[in-house]
Amino acid sequence: MLVILKRDAGQVSRQAAQLVASAIRKKPSLVLGLATGGTMVGVYQHLVRLHQEGSLDFSQIVTFNLDEYLGLPATHPQSFHHFMQEHFFAHVNVSARNIHIPDGTIRGNYDQYCASYEEAIRAAGGIDIQLLGIGRNGHIGFNEPTSSIASRTRLKVLSRETLDDNSKPFAPSEQSPRCAITMGIGSILDARKILLIATGASKAAAVAKSIEGPITSAVSASALQLHPDVTFIVDDPASSQLTQREYYLRVLEMTALLTPDRLS
Ligand code: PGA
Repeated sequence: MLVILKRDAGQVSRQAAQLVASAIRKKPSLVLGLATGGTMVGVYQHLVRLHQEGSLDFSQIVTFNLDEYLGLPATHPQSFHHFMQEHFFAHVNVSARNIHIPDGTIRGNYDQYCASYEEAIRAAGGIDIQLLGIGRNGHIGFNEPTSSIASRTRLKVLSRETLDDNSKPFAPSEQSPRCAITMGIGSILDARKILLIATGASKAAAVAKSIEGPITSAVSASALQLHPDVTFIVDDPASSQLTQREYYLRVLEMTALLTPDRLS
């Protein structure tokens, strides 16, 4: 596990975008796992800028989003389909046929639909890089605390903390979604490389438990300790509860000297 400590959110998103961009330049047909949420907005801004400057071509990449609210059509302003259009797809040249986001409008036959999402990932050759945010409760995707570490794409009931965090943008008259379709922790762990980004003090406890705590289904992101190629990129406030900061900084220095590819 590589822990990249950055001063602020701007530096975190720049570093994450750089890592994604260089992976796409090395493999133009990269299969990219995408995430939504406020933390990701800056990453997409940097990627869009690189594309508009002419230095990054997305025409061959294939994307799979982690999750979508159940019950929201793609046109709903709070749907993750809408988020992805607004912040990324509308501004870059990802081919529409290569974009995959779980369908929030399905009714019934959830297992069958979720198995077909997993099958599409397999048919694309598996995810090369999975981008992740993290919830205050340690969730990745919508894998809420107590999710099985072996879980696959499935229907998931949202936790109280997630409902509180995510209900704000919904109109007061509107019932915010109670469930989602999400890739599982097992699906995420199948990715060849994982990049988790976290910013702000509200994420500090979840970040510390994920990196330095025991592996437990009570903190879904702690399962990432089982993966051989995970990079956390965190800003100062989000890293404030890590006890091994000095060690991570020394690892970073040596990584820059010995295996600089991991940082660019
Ligand atoms: P956020 O969400 O980036 O909006 O904080 C992250 C998450 O819940 O995974």
